[in-house]
Amino acid sequence: MRRSVKIAIAVGATVAILGPLGYFWQQSLVPSTYNMATMGYADFGGGPQTGHVHSAGGLDVSTLTGPSTGDPDVAVTLTARREKNGKYTLNGVTPGPEIRAVKGQLVQVTLINDNVTDGVTLHWHGVDVPNAEDGVAGVTQNAVQPGEQFVYRFVAQDAGTFWYHSHQVSHEQVKGGMFGALVVTEPVFSEGIDQVVAVHTYDGRRTINGRPGESALAARPQQVVRARVINTDAQPLRAWVTGAPYRVAAIDGREVHGPTDISDKSVVVTAGGRVDLSFTVPASGLARLDVGAGAALTTAAAGGGAGPAGGGATGEPKATIDFLSYGAKADLGFDPGKANRNFDYRIGRRAGFLDGKPGLWWSINGHLFPDVPMFMVTTGDIVKMTIANNSGEVHPMHLHGHHAVVLSRDGVAATGSPWWFDSLDVGDGETYEIAFVADNPGIWVDHCHNLQHAVDGLLAHLAYTDVRTPFEVGGEAGNKPE
Ligand code: C2O
Ligand code: CU
Repeated sequence: MRRSVKIAIAVGATVAILGPLGYFWQQSLVPSTYNMATMGYADFGGGPQTGHVHSAGGLDVSTLTGPSTGDPDVAVTLTARREKNGKYTLNGVTPGPEIRAVKGQLVQVTLINDNVTDGVTLHWHGVDVPNAEDGVAGVTQNAVQPGEQFVYRFVAQDAGTFWYHSHQVSHEQVKGGMFGALVVTEPVFSEGIDQVVAVHTYDGRRTINGRPGESALAARPQQVVRARVINTDAQPLRAWVTGAPYRVAAIDGREVHGPTDISDKSVVVTAGGRVDLSFTVPASGLARLDVGAGAALTTAAAGGGAGPAGGGATGEPKATIDFLSYGAKADLGFDPGKANRNFDYRIGRRAGFLDGKPGLWWSINGHLFPDVPMFMVTTGDIVKMTIANNSGEVHPMHLHGHHAVVLSRDGVAATGSPWWFDSLDVGDGETYEIAFVADNPGIWVDHCHNLQHAVDGLLAHLAYTDVRTPFEVGGEAGNKPE
């Protein structure tokens, strides 16, 4: 073959390959400014296609606030800072201050950004707040820039264990410490020890409430302890109690119905999820709660790590509790059999371009972000969603603004207590059927809480028809929610 012909063939082949590639690359570019409400494609889940995603007209999310008048029962000011060591703090500490409210109280949090140049927001993870208080930059508000402030006001409608964290450049800021615990208690006085166990890994060291290793749990024999385990990391963790049988009192801020005693088993806590463990300190006074990697709370920590068996750290139980069959059945308050929307949220992985970058990215129903489904609902809908994962990794899926209930896993129906959740581990190869009532109008993120995965495209939205947002991702406000 003559040289010039060879070159011609090579050039032709290159164009044939790069031409379509260039097209896909171009298609994948996320515009520098875009409105989340008009992102992707509308998926009506077989329900009525009335109403539209609006960028003009419709209900503005910023009107969907908590009570704008009235003195707050709980008022907190949180000042966000990026410290010299790179950590993110609120009022100079990480975790940020623990916020406690009684069910029904009006909570007001004033967020001040001291020096975080990327901007900050606060999201109330697991609290089904009105949309404008949800704290997602570019969807429900603009990121709060240095020198600015933003006031969140909402009624703590449900008792339970929650947490708050930034939802601006969240994969960096949450990892770096921009979070804290939020506990809402029942109005009735309850005796015993109520202990937050916020687990976070800083620079590879697992901590409880900021402390690595063992910490003291001040509890006497016969006292009942409620340990509110909060997983603020990106991976699932295991928690277990030794020295006494324990119960799973609540999952994701919802009481478990008819919990039974557990021993020699651990409980998996989804990234972003919470599990309340309750136990009675035995007569010996020795009890211990482990969350893995040597981080533990023990009633005997002062003595240098004597565990209940007198031998310090206890081995991790091999078996785990399955929430699908734990506890006793109870009424859901709605009938999932009457679902009028049925959505698929199928998580895969495929080669392509994400915002112009070639790679192997997470896909949703075969699509790459931002060309992903917008799950459309109207208020009062009963929604069923099938979340399937064939992507090779576990994904802790988190829907904002709603609690959903697990109906089945891999075709096996739930038989235990209603398993309400806001954060759910969907393992590789697993399929969950879940259901919820659409009762909180707005535009809500539905994403993976391994926040690096969210940045890498594992993020969609649940949107109520006729709701619009004036906020945009990117642009002058510099909103980067993930
Ligand atoms: Cu805990 Cu969208 O977040
Ligand atoms: Cu993920």
